Amino acid sequence: MEKKVAFKQQKTEDEFLDRTLRPRVLSEYIGQEKIRKSLKIFMQAALERKESLEHVLLHGSPGLGKTTLSYIIAQEMGVKIKVTSGPAIERAGDLAAILTNLQEGDVLFIDEMHRLNKAVEEVLYPALEEYVLDLVIGKGPMAQSVRINLPRFTLIGATTRVSRISSPLRDRFGMVYCLNFYENEDIGKIIERSAKILDIQIEEEAIAELAKRARRTPRVANRLLKRVRDYAQVKKSEIINKKLIAETLNLLEIDEIGLDNLDKKVMEVMIKKFKGGPVGLSTIAAAISEEQDTVEEVSEPFLIQIGFLSRTPKGRVATESAYQHFNCQYPKKLQKSLL
Ligand code: ADE
Repeated sequence: MEKKVAFKQQKTEDEFLDRTLRPRVLSEYIGQEKIRKSLKIFMQAALERKESLEHVLLHGSPGLGKTTLSYIIAQEMGVKIKVTSGPAIERAGDLAAILTNLQEGDVLFIDEMHRLNKAVEEVLYPALEEYVLDLVIGKGPMAQSVRINLPRFTLIGATTRVSRISSPLRDRFGMVYCLNFYENEDIGKIIERSAKILDIQIEEEAIAELAKRARRTPRVANRLLKRVRDYAQVKKSEIINKKLIAETLNLLEIDEIGLDNLDKKVMEVMIKKFKGGPVGLSTIAAAISEEQDTVEEVSEPFLIQIGFLSRTPKGRVATESAYQHFNCQYPKKLQKSLL
């Protein structure tokens, strides 16, 4: 029982810090420049016409700032935000309850949009297009259909798997934005900003080192910064330098280019067990006892981004850079097959 409470407190503390670190307005948001520019224009246009913003779909890898951006949109539009997720809306009635409780202009944020079930999706279509709910009450010959008017609201859908969003649903979003991995320089700026908020003294060189190892992802950067702060506190170090970063990341088993345990397992099994591939995703996942979705959504996009893994029609293949990083001899077979 005690353990459970302790765990909850730890989580709350981390969640609290995450909320503290989140930028509140668009001008504080670092990176994703094209999205910022575009959103700024469309939000201004809607504000000038005193209309609600059209529905927005945000997609991209975990931790790139989809939720953060949604809170910013609500803040900039001067409206409230209600937060839910695809799997939490089990039945059409759940969605009806959420929609009828919205106020004019509100943002409804649905995370993991690709996990919304079909029946719920059907109810969502008229709500998105005409701001009405068509509900069937009762069953059999006594069933009655009722139409309920809804306030004009903005749906912000977020997903790590845009290919799993059906095209009728995708078509109902006025704006679709893909969040990309950040430049290391921008991750550095995010770390600098977070360090200021948390009152952490960190050397410039240490910021660059941490940025290099943060998987080009703000959430990872902030998490690592918090762990470095823990380490510095215990080691009674006033200022964070490069050496302290190296020691903390060693503890966390994160390597010099930011690969974590899952990334390493994926690459090592491909290189050592499957001779660099081609190998199917489900085979890789089974070999490392991981969920296929986790490998595909969490690890793979980053490995592709840094050029360690490529997708081919025959399966996943490890690249020459990956072999070099893991100090392994690149097989002749792969050299030839890529020519
Ligand atoms: N924290 C998380 N994501 C951020 C971003 N893009 N800019 C600034 N701070 C952030």
